[in-house]
Amino acid sequence: MSRHVIVTGASRGIGAAIAQSFIDGGDTVVSFSRSGTAPEGCATTLAVDVAESETVTAAVKTAIEAHGPVDVLVVNAGITNDGLAMRMSDEQWRSVLSVNLDGAFYCARAALSSMIRNRKGSIIFIGSISPFYGVPGQANYAAAKAGLVGLARSLAREVASRGITVNVVAPGFIDTDMTSDVAGLEAMTSLIPMGRTGQVEDIAGVVQFLASNHSRYLTGQVVAVDGGLAMGL
Ligand code: NAI
Repeated sequence: MSRHVIVTGASRGIGAAIAQSFIDGGDTVVSFSRSGTAPEGCATTLAVDVAESETVTAAVKTAIEAHGPVDVLVVNAGITNDGLAMRMSDEQWRSVLSVNLDGAFYCARAALSSMIRNRKGSIIFIGSISPFYGVPGQANYAAAKAGLVGLARSLAREVASRGITVNVVAPGFIDTDMTSDVAGLEAMTSLIPMGRTGQVEDIAGVVQFLASNHSRYLTGQVVAVDGGLAMGL
């Protein structure tokens, strides 16, 4: 049966691959992206800045009116704005927190009431291994992604009895525009036990699992998809 799936940040990279995998599976996909672009085959594409609370609430309402209760929410939209902490501006800090953490909360809050009424649903946050590893220059990003874990686990406890699961996928280094200019990526790759960076499909596959019935007894978890880079952290 076709599920109603919302994917944020679906215009490119990991989000586009996740949206495509649900489209390929016959699901009804609603994409949120700043640009309003998304993979062909999305049922609805909305121009949404996830950092804007009212815009997110309105967009989720539009999606529900068009396609019914949300079955799966994938919170993927994210940005980096790196710099050493002692030189980081308020704006650098705030912008990363706004998109990566505030945006995740706005999306989850807006989708939850329809999931609760429907007594089922999956929320999947795309986090990062950054908070577990510690990455110089990413204090803002690592803090935001660490915040997602607390958000996910608290939500998981709030809604577990309603048949809703909430989990975090924590990618390692995945080949996308976001990592195309990361300094020292080659040196970092040599630390990855699997000896390579990941592909967007590596993340989409795990998201599919977390959105499926195969993971129905799995909630409040952080699943690192990183070729083993952060294992044990
Ligand atoms: P990307 O930069 O290629 O794509 C990010 C997407 O988020 C784009 O579609 C962009 O338009 C959207 N976006 C950004 N700000 C937005 C906003 N305010 N409102 C709506 N959409 C917005 O990045 P990539 O690599 O595909 O990353 C996707 C997610 O995976 C992000 O949350 C990122 O933090 C996370 N991640 C990526 C890793 C990697 O190695 N590429 C590693 C760990 C986590």
